[in-house]
Amino acid sequence: MDLYEYQAKELFVKHGVPSSEGRVTDTVEGAREIAEEIGKPVMVKAQVKVGGRGKAGGVKYAATPDDAETHAQNILGLDIKGHVVKKLLIAEAKDIAEEYYISFLLDRSNRTYLSICSVEGGMEIEEVAANNPERVAKIAIDATKGVDLAKAREIAEAGHYPAEVLDAAAITISKLWEVFIKEDALLVEVNPLVKTPEGEILALDGKVTLDGNAEFRQPGHAAFADIEATDPLELKAKENDLNYVKLDGEVGIIGNGAGLVMSTLDVVAYAGEKHGGVKPANFLDIGGGASAAVMAAGLDVILNDSQVKSVFVNVFGGITACDAVANGIVQALEILGDEANKPLVVRLDGNNVEEGRRILAEANHPLVTEVDTMDAAADKAAELAAAAK
Ligand SMILES: Nc1ncnc2c1ncn2[C@@H]1O[C@H](COP(=O)(O)OP(=O)(O)OP(=O)(O)O)[C@@H](O)[C@H]1O
Ligand SMILES: [Mg+2]
Repeated sequence: MDLYEYQAKELFVKHGVPSSEGRVTDTVEGAREIAEEIGKPVMVKAQVKVGGRGKAGGVKYAATPDDAETHAQNILGLDIKGHVVKKLLIAEAKDIAEEYYISFLLDRSNRTYLSICSVEGGMEIEEVAANNPERVAKIAIDATKGVDLAKAREIAEAGHYPAEVLDAAAITISKLWEVFIKEDALLVEVNPLVKTPEGEILALDGKVTLDGNAEFRQPGHAAFADIEATDPLELKAKENDLNYVKLDGEVGIIGNGAGLVMSTLDVVAYAGEKHGGVKPANFLDIGGGASAAVMAAGLDVILNDSQVKSVFVNVFGGITACDAVANGIVQALEILGDEANKPLVVRLDGNNVEEGRRILAEANHPLVTEVDTMDAAADKAAELAAAAK
């Protein structure tokens, strides 16, 4: 889960990373109030989960509460790369002598943690890496040792931070590492990490990605979830423990097991080429237990996606046998009643397949077509979707 800057900074405060005082608001009046409360010049900062806010006019200096109000008016509602600004962070504007870059991330290819550090901060690190690669240091971190003060200093030094800031920077960097490890983050990035004219080191921006797989041991992280911005169908799927990913096409897909679902996506996309280019509408893995309730929840999610024109249920009966799946489909359609209103193509194979097909045939539901092979079923689903487009 990606966090907003203001949320990242909440974690910074928790772990003692120095930043600038600020609060979040979703109104123009709120922006003014916070600016008055801070009583000094502030920055009005768009809170969107996308980079390049500054360049898009989403980060502005306000000398007075009046200015803060004006900027808030302009920035709220602004569209930054498809993200509409709904919240603003109003943070004390700090004097900046220099801007640096620092991040911690997971280096999957080398199976380790990595720090990227550069004295060239405040601009896009990709750009610095392209134009001035020698100014961008990549330092591997031994997961068993982590980052102590000495290692943090080594990182800052490798990034060419000036000698006089190394000690102060090392303290901030070691605290950012604490955020990274203690909060189970996949990314902690600060750009810019600044030096003030007084020699203080502050994190004035923050980007944090939390590891969803660690949710079970991070109860505090649930509060960061962006319920309003999450697709309601994705929320519903999550509530039912379904692995659901919304895609752009027209054929809804339900399968059991990620491998089968992924190959189903391929087969549908391939079949769709012959039918005017229809594509998979989603990825939905109902996992091992394809009970009626799980099938109903899955179908409910997919049928509520208005882009879906047909549904392909592709199940390989293993531990859950095909007859149980077939019963699940029949009962799910009963549960859904009139809400089930799009054609379903069902392909069953594996354990107890004959009985499964018999159950479907006997139910003889007007929306259901049973097709024996995956390719033929994909073709049928694509054809039905194309016809309904
Ligand atoms: N509290 C602050 N005080 C003074 N200057 C700030 C403050 N916050 C940000 N700035 C200035 O604004 C610039 C842009 O801010 P910031 O890094 O937060 O946004 P951004 O980099 O444009 O957004 P993103 O990181 O999403 O691309 C910073 O490089 C810094 O110069
Ligand atoms: Mg930034």
